[in-house]
Formats: sequence, C-alpha cells, structure tokens
Amino acid sequence: MRPEAKAGILDIAPYVPGASKAAGHAKPIKLSANENPLGCSEKARAAYLASADELHLYPDARTSRLRAAIAAKYGLEPERLLFGAGSDELFSIACMAYLGAGDNMVQPQYGFAAWAIAAHAAGGAVKSAPERNYTVDVDAILATVDRRTRIVFIANPANPTGTWLPFGEIERLHAALPGNVLLVLDGAYSECAVGLRGYSAGLEWARDKENVLVTRTFSKMYGLASLRIGWGYAPARVVEALDRIRLPFSISRGGEAAAVAALEDEAFLQRSVDALTSGRIKLREGLAALGARTLPSAANFITATFDNTGLPAEQIAAELARGGILVRHLRNYGMPDWLRISVGSETELKALLERLGLIVEAAKARV
Ligand SMILES: Cc1ncc(COP(=O)(O)O)c(C=O)c1O
Repeated sequence: MRPEAKAGILDIAPYVPGASKAAGHAKPIKLSANENPLGCSEKARAAYLASADELHLYPDARTSRLRAAIAAKYGLEPERLLFGAGSDELFSIACMAYLGAGDNMVQPQYGFAAWAIAAHAAGGAVKSAPERNYTVDVDAILATVDRRTRIVFIANPANPTGTWLPFGEIERLHAALPGNVLLVLDGAYSECAVGLRGYSAGLEWARDKENVLVTRTFSKMYGLASLRIGWGYAPARVVEALDRIRLPFSISRGGEAAAVAALEDEAFLQRSVDALTSGRIKLREGLAALGARTLPSAANFITATFDNTGLPAEQIAAELARGGILVRHLRNYGMPDWLRISVGSETELKALLERLGLIVEAAKARV
C-alpha cells in the first residue's frame, strides 16, 4: 500500500520552464523566459528591500495597498480584483472552482501550458481548437465548445506564438459563448501590445460581463517575475468563488510593496515598452536577414523557424546554448521546428545575432 495521486494527476505533462543554465557559462544570456532585460524599476527594488524589516509578519491577506493602486490606475472596482502567486495561481483556482469531472476547458491549439495543467489538476478535460497561421481562430474555438465546456482560455497577445487578435474578435467570441462558460482573457503580455491599432486588454469592456475574468501580471514588462504577482478582474460572483479557495497569503509583503512602487513608476514602464518595441523590430529584421521566418509578434519575444534553411530548431537551440545563449525550443508546444526568442537588451541581441550568423554560415558550409 502506498499513497496514490488522484486519477489523471500523473498523466499531466509537467511544466517545462525556459532553460536557465548553459554548461560552462556562469552567466548565460537568458532569452528563454520572456523576462524584462532592463530588470525592474529602481523604486520597486527599493520598496522590496525596505520590506526586509517585516519578514516575520504575515502579509496583508486582502493585498489592500496594491488593490487600491490597481483600482485607481485602471478605474476598476477594488472589490472585483483578485490576487495570486503569479497569474498562474489564478488559472489554477479558476479551474478548481469551475471545472469538475466530465467538464472541459477549451483553449487554442498553442495555448499557454499552465492552463492545461490547471484544468487537468482540477479533474477536467482539455479540448484544443486549431489555429490558423499560428493565430487564435475564434470560429474554431466556438466549434470546439460543447455543452460540458466551463472555461475558455485565450491569451492576447499569445504565448508561445506572440500573435494577437484585434479586440473585435474577442467581442465576437464572447457574444457567441454560452453565458455559463467563463472566458479567461490572459493579458500577461498586454503591456507589450497597448497602442497597437485595434488592441485592447479588455478591462473596461469586462465591467458589465458576468462571465469574463481578465488576468494580468507583474512578471513581464514590470520585471518582477521572481516576486510572483498576478491579478485579475472579474464579476463579483466569480471573485466570491475564487477568493474562497485562493491561499490567503500568496502575495508576500515584499511583493506587494514592490508592485505598488512599480505601478507608480510609469517612466520605467515606458522605457521598458520603448526598448521592447525597438528591440523587437531589430530582432525580427536580424532573424529575417539570416533566413528565418518569423511570426508577427505583439509580445516581448519573437517566434521563429529556420526551416527554409534546413537547420533544425533543436540544433540551433543546442548550438546557441553552447555559446552561452538560451532560447526556447517549442517542441513541448507541438511546434518542433520553432524557437521562441525573448527580446533582450541591445548587447544581448547583438550577441545572439552574431552567434546565429555563425551557426547559419557553418550549416551552409556543410552542404
Ligand atoms: C500567456 C501567459 N500567461 C501567464 C503567464 C504566467 O505569468 P505569471 O508569472 O504571472 O504566473 C505567462 C508566463 O510566461 C504567459 O506566457
């Protein structure tokens, strides 16, 4: 006799994080996890350090300061905000609350891996809707929804493809979904996309919707991935359910202090967005010049394939790692020919393109 996990738990494919180690390189260039190459706001860092005197105290279970700050910044009702250890925790508790045995969650073909883990852990099934040109296809999602669907997940912009939908498509999806299906609009990369014509993170739109949960994170453009701060905006009924099962202290004191300061430091966010926007163009052009095909990205990474050159993505990732540069090979997302490359700093970008150039040249010389 020994303890056995519930049925299905050991069938879950474990989450594969972006590589963080390269043999022989103490400080590799990490372009595998879509982190902010500028780090975080100095003010956020100072607020975090200042919280060191309070390590013995439990955090505020209501996350009141951050709640008030987010509500004020976005014009949202504070009581409709949810907090979690990264937006990942919100996906998990949404699935716990709304999915049971026999129910299913619908996601696009290249959905973010943490959603399916959450759905399976809650005992639900996962149905994937085909994408078109690596872009979410609203009609395919609607065709996949059935009477046992309880949640639809969409990230806009999406990971791992970086592609995005104009907001009209999200509205169209919502309008056709049955009212008892929770639409989770994952905005992990929203800050990267604001300003694109036709893009909206959907917060204001969600105000009068009974079945929409918008999630956001401080992990990407705010550069606070290590602190695990995610938040969501949802109708009162959904908040009531999720707040009952979230862990009461999942936002730490230091994390809350840093996030409040980060939110105030609009200059840092703007610098990050500007650096991303110009870096993304340079990365795309550099990759194209080396013969790669790239997907149109509104996120802080570019997804690319060198299939035209005959160079396997896996080999490129391995050779880059030998040179101390880490990118993400997308085999576990069902895209074995593709690499996902975060937009790094100028120096990192230069090192990446130089090394890639050598790899492509060497491959040409072999044929
Ligand atoms: C689409 C998407 N959603 C959510 C997350 C998770 O973010 P967090 O750090 O807030 O858990 C990521 C992180 O890679 C992501 O790509």
